[in-house]
Amino acid sequence: MGLRMGSCPMLDPENTNRTRQKIQNVFSAVTHDSAGKHVSGTALYVDDLPEPGNLLHCYIGTSEYAHARITNMDLSATRQYKGVIQVLTAGDIPGSNDISPVHLHDEPVLADGLVQFAGQPLFAVLAETRSIARQAAQLAKVEYEELPAILDIETALADKSFVLDPHILQRGDTQSALASAPRRLQGEVTTGGQDHFYLEGQVSMALPGEDGDVLILTSSQHPSEVQLLVAHSLGKPVNAVTVEVRRMGGAFGGKETQAAQWAIIAALLADTSGCPVKIRLDRDDDMCSTGKRHDFLIRYDVGYDADGRIQAIEFLHALRCGISADLSGPIADRAMFHSDNAYYLPNIKIASYRCKTNTVSNTAFRGFGGPQGMVGIERVIDAIAQQLGLDPLAVRRLNLYDKDGKRSITPYRMKIRDNVLHELLTELEESSGYQQRRRQIEAFNRHSPVIKKGIALTPAKFGISFTTTFLNQAGALVHVYKDGSVHLNHGGTEMGQGLMIKVAQVVAEEFQIDLERVKITATNTGKVPNTSATAASAGTDMNGMAARAAARKIKKRLLKFVSKRFDVDKSAISFVDNHVQAGEFEMSFAELAEAAWLARISLSATGFYRTPKINYDPQTSTGRPFLYFAYGAAVSEVEIDCLTGESLTTRVDILYDVGKSLNPAIDIGQIEGGFIQGAGWLTSEELCWDSKGRLTTHAPSTYKIPTIGDTPASFNVQIWKKGRNREKTIYRSKAIGEPPLMLAISVHSAINQAIASKLGGQILPALNTPATPEAILTCLHPKEG
Ligand code: MTE
Ligand code: MOS
Repeated sequence: MGLRMGSCPMLDPENTNRTRQKIQNVFSAVTHDSAGKHVSGTALYVDDLPEPGNLLHCYIGTSEYAHARITNMDLSATRQYKGVIQVLTAGDIPGSNDISPVHLHDEPVLADGLVQFAGQPLFAVLAETRSIARQAAQLAKVEYEELPAILDIETALADKSFVLDPHILQRGDTQSALASAPRRLQGEVTTGGQDHFYLEGQVSMALPGEDGDVLILTSSQHPSEVQLLVAHSLGKPVNAVTVEVRRMGGAFGGKETQAAQWAIIAALLADTSGCPVKIRLDRDDDMCSTGKRHDFLIRYDVGYDADGRIQAIEFLHALRCGISADLSGPIADRAMFHSDNAYYLPNIKIASYRCKTNTVSNTAFRGFGGPQGMVGIERVIDAIAQQLGLDPLAVRRLNLYDKDGKRSITPYRMKIRDNVLHELLTELEESSGYQQRRRQIEAFNRHSPVIKKGIALTPAKFGISFTTTFLNQAGALVHVYKDGSVHLNHGGTEMGQGLMIKVAQVVAEEFQIDLERVKITATNTGKVPNTSATAASAGTDMNGMAARAAARKIKKRLLKFVSKRFDVDKSAISFVDNHVQAGEFEMSFAELAEAAWLARISLSATGFYRTPKINYDPQTSTGRPFLYFAYGAAVSEVEIDCLTGESLTTRVDILYDVGKSLNPAIDIGQIEGGFIQGAGWLTSEELCWDSKGRLTTHAPSTYKIPTIGDTPASFNVQIWKKGRNREKTIYRSKAIGEPPLMLAISVHSAINQAIASKLGGQILPALNTPATPEAILTCLHPKEG
């Protein structure tokens, strides 16, 4: 569009159409912006981007030992291999050899003399093709002096091998409360780790630019951190590095910190070779060399009364962190913050041990420690119910946080003001026919010796906000172009969860324009700086607010312009259906954009948001770490085969409070996906290491993620219709990304019920997670072990 001098569009009273309807952009079940591209294969991931002609490829060489000193690393054959350009080792890194996200300098990019886990990267080979790099990497001759390795939680605990100091959270005198409780029970449950199994593995492409600058195209939840760590490794200022992420093919927490290492390697090689470099991990390498969900050992000592009301509880949490802290500190904290789940625990002590082991450094995974903490308390409730011969749901209900009053204060002294679980549980109990089905199942089990059924209803309460307060900030950048089309950018990243479409809905709603007019663009550190990871389920809460702030700035300028230009009071101006109406005049949004531009009005703005009201003091473990809680509940029905140990989830009913849903289609997708992922963690996904600390389950052949066949035949997901965030979040919506995963605890609990019915109610099943057929059989035959 050229300069239309003298043809500046006027507010034309003739054109006025008073029947314009408001466009409903928010609260609509809009399809994910990339859904069509995902299924047609046209969504571009890093490895799909057109490759520059001089692109070089990288492959890593990794350690075979869990703990060893490298006595000699002979890379001559690797270097001499035809097509190899160079080999990178720790000594070649000009800046810092560090990928620690919290800057403890406890984890190197490439091992330097000492290897601390099997699968740790030692060197990187750069070659003309990926297969040359891969073949050449196999020719390295590395000699080791093996050192004693700590491979499991128990050993680390006994040896006091920790990555961070133990942490204790306490309220009340638990010892005397336990001693005076009418009943008391001790037990233990372990939870397994989980590989993220994102469909797109770790990948980065580094493109060298002028003056030693570098552009990184990567698959990361945290572009700003990749930028910082790349700059540090290169020994350059942060402004020499730009990081861009269009989308990830799944992340689930596995790309919150884990993408940096590969981006750094690509950047270092691009910087020295002067050529673009791509690195894409093999699935096996990805599984061996990147962190997973922390496995936990949870011990409990609980005191309760004859009705099942908990009076005191002590928990021990010991989690396997691997070789370094990574995000283990906040993950262990979140596990502590969720060891109450939905229940008021008057006297409580949680001791959390962050164990250092010679295994890959564990990291964020959907729920971020929360699920593990919740498995602990849900197990306790099941155990109490079994001891008292009560319906576990009755015990759950009895222990729920009150809606108000003293019994609504968490162990970290935050008052819960938004508890909807009493209502939610009642609705779900009725809509799912829980009581009637429970009776039917009891009758069925009496006459079925081999197949046993179980049913369980479990709630989830999940705190929303980063517990590290300063991370709760977000930025956005919005441009309106002269034709009225809008460019949207913000610090959040898309990993399939639908963040981009939700934020676009917010911006379209502000301007009252069609969603198609808002261009979703790649996250780029050059556009919005110093961002936090897209994590903690807070992506929409934070970036939605930042984008709205940016849009509102522009809108304010436009209002002022229209008001002045046409002498109409601001109160009489409204944006509606791709138009602006001013009194009796109206013009299209596109005409408005051009008119404003001609009048030299800025049509670009940044927006910023910081989450209000939150605070937390790690010294005293008290404060308000969360702005609000997300709530949900699920009823799962399962069958187990007592001869084979197999389990099948036959029916699931979920009721979830997403506040006012910004996009019910996306939200239901998140609930379904999160639940199935949680069920995978709790039933079939099992990580195994051999006695040397080598992961033996590093491919889909040995690591079983859920498939469509594991989806319950009857899967009823409902968004709670009365949902409305009492905090002023974006359109009163609530976070959705992680909490549904924890609803899958109902599956595990139902399996435990089924086992208990086989054992005849005398013996307390000791089912750990994952509830694999082996684990179920072990519980069914406790004497044989
Ligand atoms: N959904 C899809 N499809 N893919 C993902 O990788 N990650 C989950 C969740 N849902 C994930 C997902 C995790 S771990 C988090 S923290 C949130 O999405 C992050 O996005 P949000 O903050 O926008 O909800
Ligand atoms: Mo999600 S585990 O907070 O990336």
